[in-house]
Amino acid sequence: MDPRPAMPNVVLPSGEAIPALGQGSWHMAEARSRREEEISALRAGIELGMTLIDTAEMYADGAAEELVGTAIEGRRDEVFLVSKVLPSNASAAGTVEACQRSLRRLGTDHLDLYLLHWRGRVPLAETVAGFDALKRAGTIRHWGVSNFDVSDLAELIGLPGGDDVQVNQVLYNLSRRGPEYDLLPWSQDRGIVTMAYSPVEQGRLLKHPVINRVAARHAATPAQVALSWVLGQPGQPGQPGQPGQPRMNAVPKAGTPAHVLEDRGAVTLELTGTDLRELDAAFPPPVRKEPLSML
Ligand SMILES: NC(=O)c1ccc[n+]([C@@H]2O[C@H](COP(=O)([O-])OP(=O)(O)OC[C@H]3O[C@@H](n4cnc5c(N)ncnc54)[C@H](OP(=O)(O)O)[C@@H]3O)[C@@H](O)[C@H]2O)c1
Repeated sequence: MDPRPAMPNVVLPSGEAIPALGQGSWHMAEARSRREEEISALRAGIELGMTLIDTAEMYADGAAEELVGTAIEGRRDEVFLVSKVLPSNASAAGTVEACQRSLRRLGTDHLDLYLLHWRGRVPLAETVAGFDALKRAGTIRHWGVSNFDVSDLAELIGLPGGDDVQVNQVLYNLSRRGPEYDLLPWSQDRGIVTMAYSPVEQGRLLKHPVINRVAARHAATPAQVALSWVLGQPGQPGQPGQPGQPRMNAVPKAGTPAHVLEDRGAVTLELTGTDLRELDAAFPPPVRKEPLSML
């Protein structure tokens, strides 16, 4: 029996629960020499309950989707599979065609969540029409967006069918706290789940002295501190006697099983008030609107 505490869930507006900690795949499938280890890492994550896997048609020009397809072969039903359409493909018909290509590379007949990677020139109504057609055909189960700031989300949910959006995947971590000013509370008020990408700032946070000091206090690692901080962002308050519901999901990318195991440990790391105050001093929260950054 796995002695680890269960993976906490985040609940989508549809009512479906997804794991709070998932796995990213950007920069996977870029080096042949790392392929087997990357596949092992994704499989280890599935074993550990990090069953949400995030990929995109853009990553390694489709090769990341192929690698994810290999990693999930025979276990598709255990995985909540997320992919993204490029804005240049996101017309009504183009979204459907891009999705079909992604499905072929992933070796599956459906996606659990399909995101618009970022906003481009195609009118949002067209992309929503494409998502809607895919959903009605059972090709995708849910759809969402990525790199949308408040004004983009407001426009989206004002469109016919636009309020079906489930997730906004954005850059959010200790060094990228701008979304706390308005985007996170705005999304939370409307039940839209925020999925934090680059939660360890692509590794750049891991050398920070304050994060290392907090980690040492808990005999934890810097990656665990950075991830625990993201997962601990306020969610729905709990009913009396029941824990609150997190509204934040994170998709760290780990290319080795050892990193995946370490990242999984973030779920049980509880940061104290002292930890949070030290982190706030080193990474101050926003005091004014900051435009959403992207990587
Ligand atoms: N929607 C968007 O526009 C967008 C943009 C960026 C990212 N994303 C998604 O979010 C995912 C995560 O973001 P990201 O890949 O940019 O950055 P990230 O997850 O913040 O960082 C990934 C880096 O951290 C390292 N790492 C992970 N766990 C570690 C650990 N325990 N100890 C030491 N190093 C560790 C990885 O190294 P190893 O590989 O050696 O383990 C990798 O170099 C992406 O893979 C992608 O799926 C989406």
